[in-house]
Amino acid sequence: MEPVNRMKIEFSSLAANVSFARVAAGAFASQLDFTLNDIEELKVAVSEAVTNSIIHGYQNDPAKIIELSAEIRCETLVLAVEDRGLGIDNIENALQPAYSTDPERMGLGFAFMQSFSDSLDVQSLPGKGTRVIMTRACRKEATPQQGH
Ligand SMILES: Nc1ncnc2c1ncn2[C@@H]1O[C@H](COP(=O)(O)OP(=O)(O)OP(=O)(O)O)[C@@H](O)[C@H]1O
Ligand SMILES: [Mg+2]
Repeated sequence: MEPVNRMKIEFSSLAANVSFARVAAGAFASQLDFTLNDIEELKVAVSEAVTNSIIHGYQNDPAKIIELSAEIRCETLVLAVEDRGLGIDNIENALQPAYSTDPERMGLGFAFMQSFSDSLDVQSLPGKGTRVIMTRACRKEATPQQGH
């Protein structure tokens, strides 16, 4: 089925664009009947994915480009963050909480993405790049129609 609405933006792999991406995703998500808390969680998930692309995928090279896209399908938001960077050798390991290839980091980004979405799909090929797709349904009950 065709999405009801969609957006796609590209931006430089810069730390300053983490907040840009989270605000853009949050603004797009606001079209659905999400609670403010839901939107905050979605923003955290997007921040984590974009930060991963900047740090791990592109190793802080600001010349590289990250793509954020979103679609609304049947009251469900589908968010995707994509880079054409280094890729992930072992996705199963990467998804484990507290797993990081960087000893300075906590290894919790994917854990946040997982808990703040209904489904998390990580597609990655070493040397090709990484695409993270998250879906989240809008569960708020529809307000009953006032009858006469
Ligand atoms: N876009 C990406 N490109 C390449 N590798 C990635 C990418 N995203 C994640 N990874 C790999 O997956 C691992 C786990 O990611 P995760 O976000 O869970 O933890 P982290 O980024 O290491 O730490 P934290 O998110 O807590 O700062 C990373 O250490 C990295 O090796
Ligand atoms: Mg991370």
